[in-house]
Order: sequence, then structure tokens, then C-alpha cells
Amino acid sequence: SSPLRLGIVGLGTVGVGVLRLLEKNAAVIAARAGCALKVVAVSSRDRHRNRGVDLSGYRWYEQPEALVDDPEVDVVIELIGGAEGAARSVVKKALQAVKPVVTANKALIAVHGVELADIAQKNSVPLMFEAAVAGGIPVIKAIREGLAADHLYWVGGILNGTCNYILSTMRKTGRDFAEILKEAQALGYAEADPSTDIDGIDTAHKLCILAALSFGMPVDFSSIYIEGIRHIGADDLHFAEKMGYRLKLLGISCLTRNGELEARVHPCLVAGGHPLGYVDGVFNAIVAKGDFIGQLTLEGPGAGAGPTATAVVADLIDVARGSTVPVWGAYHSGGSPIRSVSRDMF
Ligand code: NDP
Ligand code: HSE
Repeated sequence: SSPLRLGIVGLGTVGVGVLRLLEKNAAVIAARAGCALKVVAVSSRDRHRNRGVDLSGYRWYEQPEALVDDPEVDVVIELIGGAEGAARSVVKKALQAVKPVVTANKALIAVHGVELADIAQKNSVPLMFEAAVAGGIPVIKAIREGLAADHLYWVGGILNGTCNYILSTMRKTGRDFAEILKEAQALGYAEADPSTDIDGIDTAHKLCILAALSFGMPVDFSSIYIEGIRHIGADDLHFAEKMGYRLKLLGISCLTRNGELEARVHPCLVAGGHPLGYVDGVFNAIVAKGDFIGQLTLEGPGAGAGPTATAVVADLIDVARGSTVPVWGAYHSGGSPIRSVSRDMF
């Protein structure tokens, strides 16, 4: 059958990772997708930057919005980042033009996911974001599809690879926070503005998406309590360890007895023997608790070009096969929104 023709906006860490994966695993991807996945157009800010990949076979667009108008682009892959600006306008424009969108942009989905899902639903067009939460861990699929039969009441965990890399490297080596952050940036783990990582905002974006999917309701991002790891020093890690704990930045959300949603992000002391205590480096881990499943833990690489590209391309394969599901899952019934617990509770 004819190839699925792709347009990619944003050729940074993830964009280049996706190009490499599509090229290297082309045969297996085509077999699983039922057709070849072929990049036809790309857009980024700087046309002359050497990205280590050959872009000569693709049409280049100065303006990412113009790529959406390309009649040969069947699917738009948004890998720019940020809740506003070019990323938001490209995604909105593509959905309005009835072109499926695959994105890794958690900020966009956390803040504008309800609006974008409405456009997607109205136009019967897929909006896919597996890569937006926990990099290579297929957690969106696990919660939205694998756990669709259960009533989940708790979901959370280690959701930011940069912070976990910093905290675990500081603990193991005693090296300086700023130096390890620079290393995480060089490894392609950090956001374009790394304060988004270390101030807990990225974790909150991911928690917002996980909670909305798990509890089947829109979650107001602005009411999530957020505290990051900027203030954590070597002494904190040392004394935590002496007491038998590990310091981890966690995102936690749960349903309270009166049906309200509690959603918070802050550093936590995790008991040494707890499954989350052993998760180090760029790895993330998500714990979900439900009436029938009991407790489930998913662990794996939470950031970086390779793992994130696998999630983006898995979404593309679903689009090619026509096996996508509604944005907020089959049990998102559009009932009254659950109120997040606000900052004044802490
Ligand atoms: P990068 O900063 O490495 O890349 C962003 C890319 O977007 C760059 O190529 C940049 O262009 C391009 N860009 C920025 N502004 C514009 C614009 N106005 N028009 C066109 N192109 C633009 O980010 P990442 O690849 O790390 O992240 C991309 C997305 O994936 C983000 O949403 C991020 O949160 C998400 N993500 C990242 C992960 C990771 O491990 N890095 C993991 C999971 C999700 P240029 O290169 O020309 O300057
Ligand atoms: N900056 C993010 C992180 C990328 O470090 O986890 C993956 O979403």
C-alpha cells in the first residue's frame, strides 16, 4: 500500500532521533505499520545547522505552519515544544485540516489538551502523545488501553529524567548540581529551558496528563502544587541516605474519599526498599493503583533521543494501522471536572 507521508516540525534531540529510527528500522516499522513511513517535509529554525543527519531528501519549510499546508504531508509530527507559539498553532492548524498529529509536547497537552482534543474529536482525527510522558515507557497506552477496565485511584512516580539524573548522580558522586545539570543538557535530557525540569513544572505537565487519563476527567494544570529540586544540596541527599531514604522528585495524584483530586509535585523521602528508591539516572517509574489491578509499576528510560523516538514512532504506527483511540480514553465521559487540590493545602 502507499506510504504514510510525514512532516516533522522541530529537528532537535527528539526530531533527529525520530529521523534516525525511521531510517534504521524502516523494514520492521513498515511491516508493523502495514505501509512505509516516509518523511517528506521538515521545518526548524536554523536551516544551516549541522544536525548529523542528511536532510537533502526532504522539503524544507521556514515556517512550521506552512508545512501543514503541504498536500503531500499526511501526518504532522510536532517536536518543537512549549505550550504556546509555533507548537500550539501547528498542532491546532493540522487538526483543523484533518491531519493526524503526533507530538512529544507535554506542556501543550497539559495546558491545552482539552481544547485540542475537542478539535480532534470533532474532526475525527487522531492526536497522539505517547512520548509526552516518561520518554520510552509506554505509559499512555498502558493507562488508556491496558488499564481501561479498572477504576484507578492513585497514579504518580518519578516523571523527570533530568531531575532523577541530577539527584542520583549527586548522591553517588558528590558532584555539583550545576555541573550535572549541564551534563543532562548535553545528553539531550533537559528541556530547552532547564528550569522547567528543575522547578518541577515538567513533572507537573506529565502528572496532569496521567491524572486526566487515569481518572477520566480534565485536570486544571494551574491548581497542581509544584515544588522543584533547586534547593536540594549534597547534605540533604547524604542525611536522607543515612536515615535509609532516597530523595526523589515525585509527581503524585490520587482521588480522595470525597471524590476530589489531589495532585502535587515535590521532592519526597522514599524508603530505601521501595521500588521507586532504586530508580536512578535518567530512568522514570510510574506507579498506578486500581481496584482490580492492585499496584502496577512501569520503569524505563524517561528521556533522550532514542527512547523518546520509539514512543513517537509507535504512535505513527498506530496512525498508519488506524488503531488509535480517543484522546482522553474510552472512559472519559466529559462529566464535571475534578478540582485539583490547591497550594493553600500545603
Ligand atoms: P530541542 O530543543 O532539542 O529541539 C527543539 C527543536 O524545535 C529545534 O530543532 C528547534 O529548531 C525547533 N524550533 C524551536 N522553535 C521553532 C519554531 N518557532 N519553528 C520551527 N522550529 C522551531 O527539544 P527536544 O527535541 O528535546 O524536545 C522536543 C519536544 O519533545 C519538546 O516538547 C519536549 O518537551 C519533548 N520531549 C523531549 C524529550 C527529550 O528527552 N529531549 C523526551 C520527551 C519529550 P533549531 O534546531 O533550528 O533551533
Ligand atoms: N526534560 C524531560 C526530562 C524530557 O528530563 O524528563 C523527557 O520528557
